[in-house]
Amino acid sequence: MKTSIPKTFHVKSFGCQMNVYDGARMAELLEAEGMAPAADGAAADLVVLNTCHIREKAAEKVYSDIGRLMKRETGPAPMIAVAGCVAQAEGAEIPRRAPGVDIVVGPQAYHNLPALVRQAAAGARALDTDMPAASKFGALPARRRQGPTAFLTVQEGCDKFCTYCVVPYTRGAEVSRPWAAIVDEAKALVDMGAKEITLLGQNVNAWQGEDEKGRAQGLDGLIRALDALPGLARIRYTTSHPNDMTDGLIRAHAEVAKLMPYLHLPVQSGSDRVLKAMNRSHSRDSYLRILDKVRAARPDIALSGDFIVGFPGETDAEFEDTLRLVEAVNYAQAYSFKYSPRPGTPAADMDGQIAAQVMDERLQRLQALLNAQQHAFNQATVGRRTAVLIERPGKRPGQLVGKSPWLQSVHLETGAAIGDIVDVEILSAGPNSLAGAALVREAA
Ligand code: SAH
Ligand code: SF4
Ligand code: F3S
Repeated sequence: MKTSIPKTFHVKSFGCQMNVYDGARMAELLEAEGMAPAADGAAADLVVLNTCHIREKAAEKVYSDIGRLMKRETGPAPMIAVAGCVAQAEGAEIPRRAPGVDIVVGPQAYHNLPALVRQAAAGARALDTDMPAASKFGALPARRRQGPTAFLTVQEGCDKFCTYCVVPYTRGAEVSRPWAAIVDEAKALVDMGAKEITLLGQNVNAWQGEDEKGRAQGLDGLIRALDALPGLARIRYTTSHPNDMTDGLIRAHAEVAKLMPYLHLPVQSGSDRVLKAMNRSHSRDSYLRILDKVRAARPDIALSGDFIVGFPGETDAEFEDTLRLVEAVNYAQAYSFKYSPRPGTPAADMDGQIAAQVMDERLQRLQALLNAQQHAFNQATVGRRTAVLIERPGKRPGQLVGKSPWLQSVHLETGAAIGDIVDVEILSAGPNSLAGAALVREAA
């Protein structure tokens, strides 16, 4: 147990972008309390481990991290707070298994972090995994500068209950933040220099609300409102569910210039039987039809997805159906995972759990196909001229790294500054990134 208020802190986030957003908000909260971000994360007085519970490997990682912090060489063990989805799922179990943990705080309760730190400093173990009726957002301090790209959570939680997934339990029910709160936060981020905002939600396209005139709006309405913000150049959103991919949102891809040509739309499997067992509530065909509409609206759109191989009962033929679907779609980028049985989810108790070796082989075959598609997509941009938003310095001196509209990393050497959007000719493509040259604009 620690017995003084920490002076410095470090937040380490795992998992999805929503955790990255929460991590930034926790840092803002601790700074507002007078704590300073530790210059060296390894020497912080307070370490917040902002955890992910989605697969077993992710969830177990926190325990090895705690072990390392307990015997770190840079000084005494820090005050340790476990936040995020493992905190929600395992609660008081965490300090039982890892007695060095001082604070456990869930994703809907982290606005109470300062009070929990004081409680821990007074020698008590502090736990808060409530899912309060009032949203945490109202209790958080103002946003701070995030750089040229910023995340903005607009929707949280999930009501879909896919049979393999912990998110409905760790994040709670689907809730949309109010229109005005989102628009205000977006304006603040733009005022502090954000050129690109990515709207976030576990099912971001399920966002719904009322605009300032009381009219019902969906995510497309929100995107159009952000489109009107001067200074904002790019809008993205993630992650979407096929069932909430409305015609209005698809139309926005044709009509809203700031909305980038990129869509992450997980499908998980190409087999209708497996999709049904997963409780995905869309079919292979309904998914493909949505993508047809999206491509009709925005022909150059980059498509991305998530896949699970080795769901209980998945046969070789059903796995082949997934490969055929991937061939039919032709993804620009994708994530694929081996099925991981999660405590408390229906699929964990299903018959026909698949052997590890079979999962390994399937994942390898799927990833080989997805990697080839990604490389081909990158290759197809060689010779094109496009706009790159400069995000950070590269590894080599003078080199900068930015993003294309299709979310590809582009390396280039230019005198431009971070946050600039430069015209670039793409010179070459690798599997994971592009190299380009800034075009000097000719005098008009
Ligand atoms: N809300 C989003 C993302 C959920 S989690 C969606 O529905 O698409 C991100 C990805 O993790 C999922 O899309 C899925 O592919 C994967 N995933 C979730 N639970 C998993 C499990 N038990 N085993 C393996 N992968 C899983
Ligand atoms: Fe999990 Fe399914 Fe909800 Fe996505 S839609 S968060 S995969 S339950
Ligand atoms: Fe992980 Fe929670 Fe995100 S389980 S993927 S951090 S919603």
